Amino acid sequence: MAEQRVRRPMMAANWKMNKLVREAQEYVSQLLPRIENAEGVDVAIFAPFTSLVEVARMIRDTPVVAGAQNLYYEDSGAFTGEVSALMLQDIGAGAVLVGHSERREIFGESDELVARKTARAVEAGMLPVVCVGETQEERDAGEMWEKCSRQVQRVIEELGELNGESIVFAYEPIWAIGTGATASPEDAQDAIGQIRGLLGELRGEEFAEGVRILYGGSIKPGNVGEIMAQTDVDGGLVGGASLEANTFAELVNGAANHKDS
Ligand code: 13P
Repeated sequence: MAEQRVRRPMMAANWKMNKLVREAQEYVSQLLPRIENAEGVDVAIFAPFTSLVEVARMIRDTPVVAGAQNLYYEDSGAFTGEVSALMLQDIGAGAVLVGHSERREIFGESDELVARKTARAVEAGMLPVVCVGETQEERDAGEMWEKCSRQVQRVIEELGELNGESIVFAYEPIWAIGTGATASPEDAQDAIGQIRGLLGELRGEEFAEGVRILYGGSIKPGNVGEIMAQTDVDGGLVGGASLEANTFAELVNGAANHKDS
């Protein structure tokens, strides 16, 4: 179907707590030449703070965006262990993951905290990639939408006026993260379509149509095509399969091929 796409696809690597600086350097050197021809896709690398400085330096003159995996909503002060939006921008990071399920589940981040962090990122001019998603138990109990809609709504409530292009959501069903169990393309479309519908109710159609919504959870070269082919899926947030430069390059090139408009 020749639908006109307004949203640029995005393929994002979430390295999680992986890679020493030297490994990050090798990865970026291998990745860049392999994605040179992937036009029309935004690429982001979400690196741990320690290698982010070097990643940001290496990709400064390329279209690839350096991203952090977390931030705090204050700019400075007595917040031991935290990093602010200003600090991230200072080293050249343009994007930040907010509310990844591992932050929510392991480190106890609340919807409230995630909302405040997102608002600060937007205000600072960074691109937040806000993660939402349900556990297996929640899905089995028929609570998937209750959970995801609450997570999305709380974030949107915290934000002032903004364009849809200023925020990205990622639907990452927790049961599909690092398990090899991917949501079916239909399930991904269903959840992401519902999220877009909710964004439309909350902020209007134009806003909702501008927001990119990614899918995350066991994406690999073998399934990226069918996931990207879904109408409302604008890209992928990739964990395990992003750790190897060749594989991530394949995903980036796959995304470019599937979202030619
Ligand atoms: P996997 O791709 O390893 O399932 O991880 C997904 C994820 O959590 C990305 O943020």
